[in-house]
Amino acid sequence: MGQKIRAKITGLGRYVPPRVVTNDEIAKLVDTNNEWIVERTGIHQRHWAEKGTATSDLAVKAVEDLLQKRGIDGSEIELIIVSTVTPDMFFPSTACLIQERIGAKKAWGYDILAACSSFLYSLTTGAQFIESGRHKKVLIVGADVMTSIVNPEDRTTIILFGDGAGAVLLEPTEEGEEDYGILDFRHEVDGSGAEFLSMPGGGSLHPSSHETIDKKMHYIHQSGQQVFKFAVRKMEELSTGMLAKHQLTGDDLGCFIAHQANLRIIDATASKIGIADDKVIRNIHKYGNTTAATIPLAIGDAIDSGRLKKGDLVLFAAVGAGFTSGSVLARWAY
Ligand code: COA
Repeated sequence: MGQKIRAKITGLGRYVPPRVVTNDEIAKLVDTNNEWIVERTGIHQRHWAEKGTATSDLAVKAVEDLLQKRGIDGSEIELIIVSTVTPDMFFPSTACLIQERIGAKKAWGYDILAACSSFLYSLTTGAQFIESGRHKKVLIVGADVMTSIVNPEDRTTIILFGDGAGAVLLEPTEEGEEDYGILDFRHEVDGSGAEFLSMPGGGSLHPSSHETIDKKMHYIHQSGQQVFKFAVRKMEELSTGMLAKHQLTGDDLGCFIAHQANLRIIDATASKIGIADDKVIRNIHKYGNTTAATIPLAIGDAIDSGRLKKGDLVLFAAVGAGFTSGSVLARWAY
């Protein structure tokens, strides 16, 4: 029997809009201050897109960065999976808009909506098409313009979110790479958490109307404490569970890359899995929570800082609205 084909990440691209917004600037918009934001979230600044910038605009720049680094053309992509909660519009999907703009003439594609877990959901979904042998080049994009759905008057959410995009390419492992690529995943949903984090307006339940706008239902509504408690518990549970399943400890990992929602959530999970501090990738201080883009942006920082190298085991973890959650174990392949 031939060796099992796995999906490995072979390239990464990133893009964040140039405008940096500091905590002090946010303190001019709502009643907050730098100390509170840093202490409760770990965020010092975030990048905000200019008005009129769409998610596909950020995504295309990240994909172009990826294609250039990997040295391939858009026409070689076979499948595009886009993770986002801020599609350019409900339909057509953002995958279609990206397909056209990157000249991915032979690709099909679709969007996945799993909020902050969506990059990992997309990664896992894309990996299935590689493992089955059906596709050889799958593009996974995580992109969000969170500022398009944040209530500029809500101090509990405007501080948290930023805009950004990241993209990775999945390709099959080759001869001699049997333990490389995406090794395992576990995903969950717990729909009982739906009420704690949502954008209630604009869907079939509450189609956009003057009333939904007046009630600000087109913005993010979040019960921060409930989300926080669930995120800490679930991220710890999935991360330690994945390690235990593979008889690994934190020492075996090259690095731990969690969704960047709140520094305290990342730190609590890191301490539970018992991993050395310098192996924990944190970039929330400079980007805030970019939802679908946090993990590819963090992968980039891990590579840049020399903390993610070929052969390293890496554990990814995320929790998001839904609630959705997931952990992915991979061996870095380039
Ligand atoms: N500046 C100053 N004070 C603020 C504030 C802000 N930006 N936001 C809230 N507060 C106040 C609250 O009004 C509250 O005041 P009160 O005690 O007088 O009522 C107090 O700070 C504490 O609020 P609380 O909501 O308990 O704070 P917290 O420690 O839970 O932090 C979050 C709030 C939003 C930072 C935190 O709950 C969080 O990060 N939750 C998870 C969010 C998340 O990860 N979302 C994405 C999902 S992946």
